[in-house]
Amino acid sequence: MDELADKHIVLGLSGGIACYKAAELCRCLIKHGASVQVVMTEAAEQFITPVTMQALSGQPVFRSQWDARSAGGLANNMAHINLSRKADAILVAPASADLMAKLAQGHACDLLTLLCLARPLQRVPLLLAPAMNHEMWAHPATQRNAAQLRADGVRVLDVGVGEQACGESGDGRMLEPPDLLYELLRALSPQTLAGQAVLVSAGPTYEAIDPVRGLTNLSSGKMGFAIARAAHEAGAEVTLVAGPVALATPRGVQRIDVRSALHMQAALQTHSQRARIFISAAAVADWRPAQTQDEKIKKGGSRQAPTLSLVENPDILAGIAASERARSGALFCVGFAAESHNLLAHAQAKRVRKGVALLVGNIGPDTFGRDDNALLLVDAQGATELPRAPKLQLARQLVAEIARRLPG
Ligand code: C5P
Repeated sequence: MDELADKHIVLGLSGGIACYKAAELCRCLIKHGASVQVVMTEAAEQFITPVTMQALSGQPVFRSQWDARSAGGLANNMAHINLSRKADAILVAPASADLMAKLAQGHACDLLTLLCLARPLQRVPLLLAPAMNHEMWAHPATQRNAAQLRADGVRVLDVGVGEQACGESGDGRMLEPPDLLYELLRALSPQTLAGQAVLVSAGPTYEAIDPVRGLTNLSSGKMGFAIARAAHEAGAEVTLVAGPVALATPRGVQRIDVRSALHMQAALQTHSQRARIFISAAAVADWRPAQTQDEKIKKGGSRQAPTLSLVENPDILAGIAASERARSGALFCVGFAAESHNLLAHAQAKRVRKGVALLVGNIGPDTFGRDDNALLLVDAQGATELPRAPKLQLARQLVAEIARRLPG
């Protein structure tokens, strides 16, 4: 996806061995549609050359505040103003301890610090990807500077843990390019759910028959995981309760793995106590074996095939939607319906039956396991179609629709 199409990013490099990752990061931003202007400090040039960064970004690198070339289309010899005005975001990766100290103090001693200080605070987000030795990162001075920068509205990103170039190990590694790309997308997303606690369920449930067999369904979990990511991008604090699926946890999302419908119900009931929004995208098994055998049921010989006796699982969503918090409006509930035909009629009926504000219908066989889908949103006012698109794109649209409907 060209997720950064039309976005202009100033990529700043300060001194640190993690500069080698900035080359990959630059490629990654360009691949996702951004135009990138690289700005390097003198120290950064000790680690990677401007030639490399120019080749990857397709633009000459800016290295000095005295550089008289035209910048951002203007020849007024004010690179720090022009570059920061043209940017949609400024990402400094790596951000050294020294650079963070300077920014926390408001110093403007080279082009990179100058343009960070000159950036329009409300319009251009500034992201710092710290990279340093673990002792330097843990030092009270660095932590004090990080806290001050956060208080000043800078997005100081977290650091990775592990082996460091110096041979020691600990906190302080720069995040990898895919994580930095995600943080940039998040900084550029409309913060429609800023600070809201969002609970999402995703994936199938697995109802054990015996230790090696069970009942489950075809849900891949992709839609629910995309919703969790989109809600986090929109500024929410997200808890994802996931049935057994092989999907990576979206960055920044708290994931709770469950297996059966009863496990899922317990986790969702607990977390719905403090959620503002509950989106029930899980495909909960309708029935479970009345009894789970402790030992594997043996087959063969003259033995007859076993008969399974099933009991119905609780309707988790309907239960939560009937809770005091949901009925008072403190919890906004969204359900899903996977149908095979008559989507509108079934979705409308299901919305009323489940007692939810919004119900999202989709055609089961057209979505299971796929990376795209089409949704039909049904609420008390009527129906809205979200045409076929990648699931992440639909998830972002759904999050915007939920934010628009949120009371207050
Ligand atoms: O009744 P049906 O399974 O079609 O309803 C689908 C919606 O209800 C989904 O949002 C699903 O997560 C939720 N559900 C539930 N507990 C069940 C069955 C479905 O929460 N036992």
